[in-house]
Amino acid sequence: EAGDDGFVASYWEYFWDGTLITLLISALGVIFGLIIGSLLALMRLSKQVLVRFPATAYVEFVRGTPLLIQVMFIYFASGMFFNLPALIAGIIAVSLNSGAYIAEIIRGGINSVNKGQDEAARSLGMSKKQTMRHIVFPQALKNIWPALGNEFITIIKESSIVSVIGVGELIFQTRVVRSISFQGILPLFVTMLIYFVLTYTLTKLLNFYEGRMNHD
Ligand code: ARG
Repeated sequence: EAGDDGFVASYWEYFWDGTLITLLISALGVIFGLIIGSLLALMRLSKQVLVRFPATAYVEFVRGTPLLIQVMFIYFASGMFFNLPALIAGIIAVSLNSGAYIAEIIRGGINSVNKGQDEAARSLGMSKKQTMRHIVFPQALKNIWPALGNEFITIIKESSIVSVIGVGELIFQTRVVRSISFQGILPLFVTMLIYFVLTYTLTKLLNFYEGRMNHD
């Protein structure tokens, strides 16, 4: 109960729980998204149309539809067959969504490596696989890494969409606090601050690692 303890003292647990769930969804979303995205990127680099096409279609479709409806679709459509907890449905939806964006990050990173690098390695007798692994990919990583960090930041903010299926992440908890505290604005302000602390900390960390990467 909220006594005279002050707003933060009374409700901090709601914000804390919400923040943890938001971070959990975001971290897992980016990790699974990285696995899905790597597969999709590899498929899109294939010479075979039958391999390339499904990956292209997937990426275009996912990027061309709102995350909001993807979350609802996965939750309610799966509900026709089995009972998926909302948190799991949310993590799956965010991962599937992020996978499409990460596929493009990886593909873009690989394509941005100068063609001469590939040609030089191949003319020195390296196989395609060796060239990708030892020459192209390490250079691509310099572009991929910061973009992945940005994707993580995007997902921290966009994962708030899963509140629509009742996942108790930060925005959901904010709504709860608004209704039980009879405070309409203060909870919104606290939540904005929390999101900002999360994303700003990450931005700073990313800049730090990016700086170090460009020095060696
Ligand atoms: N708000 C956009 C949407 O609903 C962004 C989706 C997520 N973006 C991302 N980089 N994973 O489609």
